[in-house]
Amino acid sequence: MSTLAIEGMQWGDEGKGKITDYFASKAEIVVRSQGGNNAGHSIEHSGVRYALRLLPSGILNENVINVLADGMVINPFCLLEEMENMKNRGVKFHLILSKRAVLLLPYHIELDKARENALGDKKIGTTKNGIGPCYEDKAARLSIRVGDLLEPSYLRERLETVLPIKNLQLKAFGGQEMDLEELYASLLKVREQVKDYIVDTTRFLLDAIKEDKKVLFEGAQGAMLCLTYGTFPYVTSSSPLVTAIPNNTGLPLNSVQTVLGIMKAYTTRVGEGPFPSEIDGDIAKKIRDEGHEYGTVTKRPRRVGWLDIPQLKYVCEISGIHHVALMLLDVLRVVDEISICTEYRLDGKKIDYMPSTVSELEKVKPVFITLPSWKEDISKVRKFEDLPLNCQNYIQKIEELLGVDIDIISVSPDKEATIIRKELF
Ligand code: IMO
Ligand code: MG
Repeated sequence: MSTLAIEGMQWGDEGKGKITDYFASKAEIVVRSQGGNNAGHSIEHSGVRYALRLLPSGILNENVINVLADGMVINPFCLLEEMENMKNRGVKFHLILSKRAVLLLPYHIELDKARENALGDKKIGTTKNGIGPCYEDKAARLSIRVGDLLEPSYLRERLETVLPIKNLQLKAFGGQEMDLEELYASLLKVREQVKDYIVDTTRFLLDAIKEDKKVLFEGAQGAMLCLTYGTFPYVTSSSPLVTAIPNNTGLPLNSVQTVLGIMKAYTTRVGEGPFPSEIDGDIAKKIRDEGHEYGTVTKRPRRVGWLDIPQLKYVCEISGIHHVALMLLDVLRVVDEISICTEYRLDGKKIDYMPSTVSELEKVKPVFITLPSWKEDISKVRKFEDLPLNCQNYIQKIEELLGVDIDIISVSPDKEATIIRKELF
């Protein structure tokens, strides 16, 4: 197979970084196509830990061409910082940026913060990186695109059109208005450092697909944070679903040959919003500590829960997921028993699907089954058959409940600590 797409199946932070890094070493091209620096992927390479926000995970591999494609929102200052960081560590990389991607600018960040404050206890719990306001500007046709950096006079014209409107919004929120000259000057500086990376990535990718290049589409966020299919309004402002890849890259529908869903052996979520299988107290704390469940970007403690089968089944259906990587399985040895939410009760009736509105989701009561855990350290296991029996049973139960193959199992954060049951790429 020459193209593989990765999708987070829960609320983000499923361990996509580790799996993407694994496949990136086999790819010729690695593409990120939506979101921005709200993503936080940590990967380990030659014993060094890298925290990536915007850069694709292929960035550490000199032979890979990394693409920030059309559907992305790119904070150029954050991008420069990440690029500098790579250069300082002696990493040689290949990167191209889409002319069609939009710039995420300081006013987006201010507006994100101001709106979250204004929402009070109804806040979304965003990463405060300006993602929502930036995508709003795209829909409102007020964005400044990456390609505009190549034409300083047009860039200035755009700022003159857009900034007065943004300043009105900032003022309405009691925020600081921004100075056009200052912003323009800072973008001209950025331009000098990134102009050589800016291309028509659609053309590049269309050619790559024709030439049967090995392309990895890396996912950011998770399906339940999808603007349309997630737990709206507690979602991000783009679609992390693999079905959005064509529209975010300019590639035709059949460009994605294999889809790999990534899920944790339990569930986490940061930010507000419904979470039917959520748990708290001692067990949640044990899992949170063992799994280092604190945000890469915001350092917030993540909310923790058991696997939620109606939620996961829904994602498998809408994204066509048949292959799954199960992450952080090792964490569950800290509990005595593992629960799985197999269905919900809504107004006293059993349902086995995920409701589409937040008001229904907030009402559902999870129905759990419970399985025994294991106490052994599984981090050195490399074959499914060598896992403790209770661990094998847990995996098989998930496969049976979801009707998918768990082809990859992560047994510790290390790159090598992975059980590969089927080569997908
Ligand atoms: P990765 O790629 C986990 C969540 C935020 C918030 C909501 C909206 O690391 O899996 P936003 O800043 O996007 O407007 O916030 O989405 N969120 C994530 N949660 N992992 C992520 O990315 C996330 N990106 C956004 O916490 O609830
Ligand atoms: Mg994250």
